[in-house]
Amino acid sequence: MWHPIFARFYSWLSCRGDAAGMADHRDELLAGLVGRGVEVGAGNGLNFSHYPSSVTKVIAVEPEPYLRARAFSAARDADVPVTVVDGTADALALREASLDFAVVSLVLCSVSSQHAALREIKRVLRPGGELRFYEHVRSESASLARWQCAVSPFWKVVGGGCHPDRDTVSAIEHAGFTINQIRSFMFEPGPRIACGIVAPHVIGRAAIV
Ligand SMILES: C[S@@+](CC[C@H](N)C(=O)[O-])C[C@H]1O[C@@H](n2cnc3c(N)ncnc32)[C@H](O)[C@@H]1O
Repeated sequence: MWHPIFARFYSWLSCRGDAAGMADHRDELLAGLVGRGVEVGAGNGLNFSHYPSSVTKVIAVEPEPYLRARAFSAARDADVPVTVVDGTADALALREASLDFAVVSLVLCSVSSQHAALREIKRVLRPGGELRFYEHVRSESASLARWQCAVSPFWKVVGGGCHPDRDTVSAIEHAGFTINQIRSFMFEPGPRIACGIVAPHVIGRAAIV
């Protein structure tokens, strides 16, 4: 996977987004996690400094080379042990039922198949293991959802494969997870003219049924 322009743009946008509130969302996403887990699509590693000290190991999977290099340096500065590896969500090089948690953060919009990614995450989680998710999603407002669908083919090309119109919460449920906690909110990480399309967000916790 190689998205050199998007990767550089996202590195800039994500730092701006963190300053505008995403850093607080990352705290909320990761609060209370314990043990060993995987972060799928770790990007430039902005979550790493938000893991609580009760986390003993994070395997951070990132397929895009520029972002993975940024993640390596973020891992060096993290307070918890983070190992960054190449890979994709649909083929995690991890043992079945071996992990306490999995984290997806603004990633299920971009994977080629949500079904394949969630099936693979489910495979590596132990019984009772937890999926933490922070995603922008399809709007519940019909008019915004129509816009999201309309721009999706273009957005996907310029946005590193990102689909603004995905019903990710339903995909998580259809994959066999039970959602135990969810907060829906509007958030624009950057200029409204572009980021309004991806403003509907969710942060939540799910477990295997
Ligand atoms: C919008 S960025 C989010 C990065 C980071 N998780 C964050 O919260 O800032 C989307 C990330 O998903 C990654 N990605 C896209 N397709 C993927 C796949 N099939 N498997 C794993 N990661 C993928 C991209 O390379 C990119 O790092």
